[in-house]
Amino acid sequence: MFRRLRDCHNVADMRLLAKQRLPGPIFHYIDGAADDELTYRRNSDAFQDCDLVPNVLVGVETVDMSVTVLGQELAMPLFCSPTALQRLFHHDGERAVALAAEKFGTLFGVSSLGTVSLAEIDALIKTPKMFQFYFHKDRGLNDKMLQSAKAAKFEVLTLTVDTSTGGNRERDLYTGFTSPPRLTLKSLASFAAHPMWALNHLLRKKFELVELKDHISEGSNVAVSVGDYFSDMLDQSLDWADAEALRAKWDGPFCLKGIMSVADARKAVDIGASAIMVSNHGGRQLDGSRSPFDQISEIADAVGGKIEIILDGGVRRGTHVMKALAAGANACSGGRMYLYALAAAGQPGVERALGNLRSEIERDMKLLGVTKISQLGRDMLRYR
Ligand code: FNR
Ligand code: LAC
Repeated sequence: MFRRLRDCHNVADMRLLAKQRLPGPIFHYIDGAADDELTYRRNSDAFQDCDLVPNVLVGVETVDMSVTVLGQELAMPLFCSPTALQRLFHHDGERAVALAAEKFGTLFGVSSLGTVSLAEIDALIKTPKMFQFYFHKDRGLNDKMLQSAKAAKFEVLTLTVDTSTGGNRERDLYTGFTSPPRLTLKSLASFAAHPMWALNHLLRKKFELVELKDHISEGSNVAVSVGDYFSDMLDQSLDWADAEALRAKWDGPFCLKGIMSVADARKAVDIGASAIMVSNHGGRQLDGSRSPFDQISEIADAVGGKIEIILDGGVRRGTHVMKALAAGANACSGGRMYLYALAAAGQPGVERALGNLRSEIERDMKLLGVTKISQLGRDMLRYR
């Protein structure tokens, strides 16, 4: 069934439109995860094991869903997690997501493996920006990325800590997905079957990892799988001392992305991190890992109030955000919740996706009987 953007009322609809518009290797890179994708599915399923208990007769004519997190005032408690290679999903790439995030007054996370320069994104939007840092073996590259983020006035630095090696992305093995895409007989057929994507890929701005290309050729001119990129290019000796040293080099809010244990959450407090993103990388790294929603209460009980807690992963509905915040998160973030929309329809797509989710959050707050995010609490949750 050929879908149009106006038929997309939720993330699942956007996923189907993205599947229709993208060549297989590109779609499966977004949609796929590690091993048997158990964690990927559990990330969203976990929300079904918990029910909301609403209050009524509260007077909910006006609700305020704004939150202050990472030192930034966000107009909604959900922001765009950093995701790589966006030029492959739509020719506007990060430009589209940045402008859509600005329209909804929320934070935009940019990956080290981004395809638009940090300087261009700074010139493009005035709303909060997060630079997601991959700790490379090449120390000169690490320093250069840090300088670029500072020069581009990114407010938040986020060190991703769950990629000590590449997750086993078997869909990418089947499709032969690489960055940049390698033309093989199999992929050629898929690219040819999506002429609009192919024309945009060939005729519009060249695909490259803008912040990395002057230091390394992998990913921009030398085709590599993401798994190989992680294993070959990132520093597997990364430890807490390196994280603390990086934090000391950053003057603004510093976040660790990929924290899942209480012990690590406590260590994040000890090194002076401003926030943690409780995340398993969307199930793309360690399959069999616990979901962020299953873990959030334990972490909130241990470090809530000492460090900000963001639930990242599996969020597809406004009620997911309500449950996460009631369980103890300060905010939520997501990748596929906007990536499918980017692939489906560029900036209008991402605006529609964020608009759908914003409307869901507003409706859910009213039906829950809350007018401010701070009114959400554990008393509104019942685990089955
Ligand atoms: C990601 N993610 C990710 N994380 C990160 O720290 N740096 C990155 O470059 C990327 N790239 C990336 C690409 C794609 C296609 C996906 C789907 C994800 C992980 C991302 O930030 C986030 O943690 C997950 O997407 C959260 O899970 P959901 O919301 O997609 O279910
Ligand atoms: C991924 C990397 C790029 O999940 O973070 O694909």
